[in-house]
Amino acid sequence: MAPKVLVSDKLSETAVQIFRDRGIDVDFRPDLGKDKEKLAEIIGDYDGLAIRSATKVTANLIEKAKNLKVIGRAGIGVDNVDREAASKAGVIVMNTPFGNMITTAEHAISMMMAVARQIPEANASTHAGKWEKSRFMGVELTSKTLGVVGAGNIGSIVCDRAKGLKMKVIAYDPFLSQEKADKMGVEKVDLDDLLVRADFITLHVPLTDQTRNILSRENIAKLKKGVRIVNCARGGLVDEEALAEALKSGHVAGAAFDVFAVEPATASPLFNLPNVVVTPHLGAATTEAQENVALQVAEQMSDYLLTGA
Ligand code: MLT
Repeated sequence: MAPKVLVSDKLSETAVQIFRDRGIDVDFRPDLGKDKEKLAEIIGDYDGLAIRSATKVTANLIEKAKNLKVIGRAGIGVDNVDREAASKAGVIVMNTPFGNMITTAEHAISMMMAVARQIPEANASTHAGKWEKSRFMGVELTSKTLGVVGAGNIGSIVCDRAKGLKMKVIAYDPFLSQEKADKMGVEKVDLDDLLVRADFITLHVPLTDQTRNILSRENIAKLKKGVRIVNCARGGLVDEEALAEALKSGHVAGAAFDVFAVEPATASPLFNLPNVVVTPHLGAATTEAQENVALQVAEQMSDYLLTGA
């Protein structure tokens, strides 16, 4: 009998087509990510579950998933999967670490530019017919120091793009070798050094026990006056309350956030502050990235279900 896969989030149709072409019996139910009772009711029928971020794969769901062999996350972060419960149940959890890295890096660069030139506020004001030409004084990126926290797949693309913009790039990443830093043309620094030197900081680390609150109240107090902070990685990396206070006092000049401690974020201490640019976790939201992650997750899951590889 063909293995059965359930797609419970909005995944590109490419994934569904690949599953079919590979001989997998696939059900496309993108509405189920938000209906956990229904999902729990039917999950027992499936060998594979393909998700994005809306489906929360809890220990309770895994307990009901008696036939489940693999969970495929079309994207990078697997924070919405209880990996410990999956591992105990012998269920493999796979992600697609490369499919949306360019798109996310480009979003971080866009956010940095948007906050440097106050583009969202200038846009709203101009649409409102105000023509406030003298209100929006920005800063140049050229020759400014960009502090990149995390120089992995996404962070290293950000370093490359920022160097193209003629920024001086410094990077904090315990896993970055001196050799790789030299090759990338970035200066490897420790976190304290980055905090005091950077004119812009961008975060590109997953949320772990080591990185949670990496921009804590204490670290925010160390930042160079006038710094602008970009977070397109994960909510929980920054103390949003402390950052809001630093923005109000003028210590931090701006922030651009795509991710929040609680998502979906309908409230945040950062909302409605001047020169704070916010987007609703759009880091992977391009047609190219969504095609890539859908294709990759469907291929990987099919390989595993059909051949065990
Ligand atoms: C990811 O982990 O791939 C990104 O944060 C994108 C997403 O969750 O949609």
